[in-house]
Amino acid sequence: MNHCLTQANRRILVVDDNPAIHSDFKKILCPALGGNPGLNAAEAEIFGGRQAAPSRTVFQVDSAFQGQEGFALVQQSIAAHQPYAMVFMDVRMPPGWDGIETTTHIWGIAPDTQVVICTAYSDYSWDEMITRLGISDRLVILKKPFDNVEVVQLAHALTEKWRLGQEARLKLEEMEAMVAARTRELQAANEQLKIEMAERARTEEALRQSQKMEALGRLAGGIAHDFNNLLTVIRGYVDSLLAENHQPPDTLEALQEIDQATDRAAKLTSQILMFSRKKRLQPQVLDLNDVIAGLGKLLRRVLGENIALQFQANARPLPVYADPVMMEQVLLNLVTNARDAMPQGGRLTIDAREVEIGEAQARSNPQSRLGSFACIRVTDTGNGIAPAALPHLFDPFFTTKEPGKGTGLGLASVQGIVEQHGGWIEVENEPGRGARFSFFIPVSTAKPGLTAEAWPKVTTPGGTETILLVEDEPVVHRLAHKILQRLGYQVFDASTGQEALSIWNEHAAKIDLLLTDMVMPGDLSGRKLAQTLQAQNNRLKVIYTTGYSAEALNLECPLEEGLNFIPKPYTPENLVHTVRRCLDETSARPPTVASTADI
Ligand SMILES: Nc1ncnc2c1ncn2[C@@H]1O[C@H](COP(=O)(O)OP(=O)(O)OP(=O)(O)O)[C@@H](O)[C@H]1O
Ligand SMILES: [Mg+2]
Repeated sequence: MNHCLTQANRRILVVDDNPAIHSDFKKILCPALGGNPGLNAAEAEIFGGRQAAPSRTVFQVDSAFQGQEGFALVQQSIAAHQPYAMVFMDVRMPPGWDGIETTTHIWGIAPDTQVVICTAYSDYSWDEMITRLGISDRLVILKKPFDNVEVVQLAHALTEKWRLGQEARLKLEEMEAMVAARTRELQAANEQLKIEMAERARTEEALRQSQKMEALGRLAGGIAHDFNNLLTVIRGYVDSLLAENHQPPDTLEALQEIDQATDRAAKLTSQILMFSRKKRLQPQVLDLNDVIAGLGKLLRRVLGENIALQFQANARPLPVYADPVMMEQVLLNLVTNARDAMPQGGRLTIDAREVEIGEAQARSNPQSRLGSFACIRVTDTGNGIAPAALPHLFDPFFTTKEPGKGTGLGLASVQGIVEQHGGWIEVENEPGRGARFSFFIPVSTAKPGLTAEAWPKVTTPGGTETILLVEDEPVVHRLAHKILQRLGYQVFDASTGQEALSIWNEHAAKIDLLLTDMVMPGDLSGRKLAQTLQAQNNRLKVIYTTGYSAEALNLECPLEEGLNFIPKPYTPENLVHTVRRCLDETSARPPTVASTADI
């Protein structure tokens, strides 16, 4: 709407078939064209001295002699953005439209136009006019013959009314625009709020899940720790019995069965430790492409003949700082699940890619983080996952498989491992068509480190040195003592840190190696004991053992499996090799692998 319209609009159209009427109107309304002194005086009287001639208001008056002609002029005025504020309309104008019909047409295109119907007594009755035009505040009836002053008064009043109407409409439009803008703002704020609330709900859910997992992890980790002590003993005695010659065949077979069952039990506790994030990482810089390619044969065997395996490697190397055995474990678990989801056969695709996680993606998944990640996707064409099962997939012991077929630890340990490596897992699912598990591990820029395999092999595990053996679990203690003694070592036994201290006080000069459990009753932990003893003899060698992971115990000293650390359950071979290696170790040790905090 043009703002100039709200300024005074003095445009008036007179529609009348009688030419004399037009000159009358012009004389009355356009005094500049030869005004009437009597009228000037009357107007001055009505509108005050300011309006007195010769400064009387001048209206711009146009003439039309037919209804259609009047309508055409109104059309032109609108097109030129100079609309008429009012029309003086004669009623009878034969031939063609009469005044009423013309008014209807004009209101059709310019509804605000103020119309004064000029009518004689013989024309339509008021009722007839109202029936045709309806009751309207835009309509005034002026009876002929009219009074000049009345005409001037109407011209003033109705042009002003038109102006005020336009102004009010403009204000209304402005207000409506403001309301619309504010509504849009509120809608946008509302959308944002919804997004934030959904994000918050996701984060809270992730937090609840991680708290649940942590509690379960602590419980399971504790159980696994006790189990490992027992397994160490079973394994130890079975191994030493197997090593003895002349066992009757029946006994030998039974011992082999026990040995295999022990292996399976050890694998199970190892899985439990993985999901409880209490398994020690032995990370090194790996190319994940190589890890997957290297597993190809094994995976094909797992999948069987009915399932086609496709591997799409990343075009460039995908270096990550990770434990290779654990990465294989993750892939094996995912591939085994995919196989079980495709009993009738199908296709399994593994692809490796490097992805850059940006703000938007990080926001949509609270577990994800910004940066470069190796993303491995395992996609199957199997049954997919039932919606009801989705929230529980990663819960330990959640399985939909028959008893004996699944323990429900696969995905829990996959999640434990991936998170221990600073990554996360995402699941996509199409029931009936397949599932995709993607895991993300940070891309590494670290240098490769040395692993236990790089150490020289031990040739003669026995020795004559003196070992202080500290272990609170009597069965494990007896086993370790037996093994070491049999190989020629002299062994002092203690079941607590305090006991070890008193032995040390008496025999310090003889003791070459401290072999101690990390977690023991009393306030002297294995680590504290070692520190105390090494403060007195810095040549004392130390080996730690535990059923927990070294990280879980928060140690600041670097531990290297096979050198100064033996995770339980251990085999006699493990024990004697580590002891020998540690005793033979000179100050030139292999470089320490970086701690997990560097990932
Ligand atoms: N690719 C998949 N397609 C369909 N369902 C799957 C897939 N992967 C996992 N699942 C579902 O998730 C459940 C849990 O998997 P998880 O690997 O933790 O345990 P499991 O395979 O049942 O037992 P386990 O791995 O310990 O032998 C499975 O029982 C199965 O219902
Ligand atoms: Mg599984």
